[in-house]
Amino acid sequence: MFKVGIVGVGYVGNIHLTKFSAIEGVEITAIQDKDAKSIDHAKANFDVKNTYKCHKHLLKNEVLDLVVICVPNHLHAELTIEALESGHNVLCEKPMALNLKDAKSMIEAADQNQKLLLAVNNFRWDYFNPSIFKLKNLIDSEWFGRIYHIKLQYLRNKTFSPDLYSRWNLDFESSGGGALIDLGPHIIDLGMWLASDYNTLSVSGSVDAGLLKRERIDDFATGLIKLKSNCTLQIDVSWSGHNRSSWKIDVYGDKRSASIGSVKDRNPGLKVFKWGKEEIDQEDIGAFTSSDPPEKSLQEHIVKTMMRGEESLCKANNAYSVLNAITQWYESSKD
Ligand SMILES: NC(=O)c1ccc[n+]([C@@H]2O[C@H](COP(=O)([O-])OP(=O)(O)OC[C@H]3O[C@@H](n4cnc5c(N)ncnc54)[C@H](O)[C@@H]3O)[C@@H](O)[C@H]2O)c1
Repeated sequence: MFKVGIVGVGYVGNIHLTKFSAIEGVEITAIQDKDAKSIDHAKANFDVKNTYKCHKHLLKNEVLDLVVICVPNHLHAELTIEALESGHNVLCEKPMALNLKDAKSMIEAADQNQKLLLAVNNFRWDYFNPSIFKLKNLIDSEWFGRIYHIKLQYLRNKTFSPDLYSRWNLDFESSGGGALIDLGPHIIDLGMWLASDYNTLSVSGSVDAGLLKRERIDDFATGLIKLKSNCTLQIDVSWSGHNRSSWKIDVYGDKRSASIGSVKDRNPGLKVFKWGKEEIDQEDIGAFTSSDPPEKSLQEHIVKTMMRGEESLCKANNAYSVLNAITQWYESSKD
């Protein structure tokens, strides 16, 4: 039995509960939340063995294969380090931490305790699956040639209402920022992963309080990240805007280009273009690669790779690089 413990069973904790519970051979051995109602809700809906009010008791009493950290952003570093030091492997929600110093301490704690620290990057499975894996295979096989530019957009119509003052995301001390630190980890990771380059040369970015107009809580961010390989990532994210919710990726190579994305459709198709020919037939693309993603969900990927002793796609070092780009982006927006 692969034993999972979940710290924080709010919105995303319940998604992890749903997805881990669906995997054969996985047991939700323990959950913890400071809010009794969240615990009751999780107990009523999932087969959970033990529940805790304090994460220290969970970490001390349980022997788990994986602890999943699903609490507000400002607690990621502290709770992750405690979990690693108590001898557990950890999957930490995004963003990895509020700052690079904390993120570095998390990686060091994993090394010192010889435990695995994994980072959540679920958009590969949840939003762009299976097209994104097909696209990645095509890029890696150099079918597009040299990738010189990737344009990524993740625009939401309405995430939070301006009067939702109790929500931790709208409190800078708890969140570390707004749309950029919340949605940026997903979309920047996708860009760097597709480019196979997590080394940022420079970031020129801007953030805006947009529609929410809350101090230090951005609602919209636009920026250009230049990677060491010379590939540029042009990225727009927004929590709220007078626009349709949409997510889209355009990849430009010197042999071909590609586009995936959609409006409200979580199964977007892959389109490929060539100079002088426009769109290329799907059969031509199919001949080059399989469309099968590795496992059905991020959670299944993590369990299977851990059980097989294989390297996971959810690397903490990559989450560190993404946080580095976000930090530079916020700095750049002050210019
Ligand atoms: N990967 C994704 O797609 C995705 C989506 C949403 C949120 N997230 C991330 O997940 C994390 C949680 O976000 P959320 O939307 O679930 O928030 P939430 O407010 O819905 O849930 C957070 C939970 O943590 C609990 N909590 C707070 N302090 C705690 C503590 N000290 N110990 C234990 N529990 C504590 C709260 O009671 C609450 O139940 C954030 O870091 C967020 O960025 C990721």
